[in-house]
Amino acid sequence: MAKLKDEQKVDLVKIASDVRKWAYVPYSNYQVGAAVLTDSGRIYDGVNIENAAFPVTVCAERTAIFKAISNGERKFQAIAVVTRDGGMPCGSCRQVMAEFGPEMLVIVADENGRITAEKKLSDLLPDMFTSKSLDD
Ligand code: THU
Repeated sequence: MAKLKDEQKVDLVKIASDVRKWAYVPYSNYQVGAAVLTDSGRIYDGVNIENAAFPVTVCAERTAIFKAISNGERKFQAIAVVTRDGGMPCGSCRQVMAEFGPEMLVIVADENGRITAEKKLSDLLPDMFTSKSLDD
């Protein structure tokens, strides 16, 4: 797992926190911001985007990761997720993280920027399903 400096963690949390205001959350009013650090050192942010057809909603983590992927990135070192109360990433987002960064660090913080959880993805998603399972 990549070892992040404290300044890098603070930076990621700040970016995730700053973008929360752009969350489109007319239904839940639960703003989530995310910032993902790629292996190449770039940072992509994202917010949750809800829809009147509720299941179509996309989480902040997936928005950030998909923005990165659609800019050519493929590997991630870490992701910061910020909510008002330090809510943890959902199962679907953990599975998307597994695809591109099985070793990644997941940093969760609350609206005051206080880090409430810091875990390896493999601890959040043990026995993860990956492309290895599809090898002949
Ligand atoms: N949400 C995220 O953005 N990330 C998660 O990992 C959990 C849930 C969003 C989806 C929805 O817009 C709101 O939080 C309430 O579920």
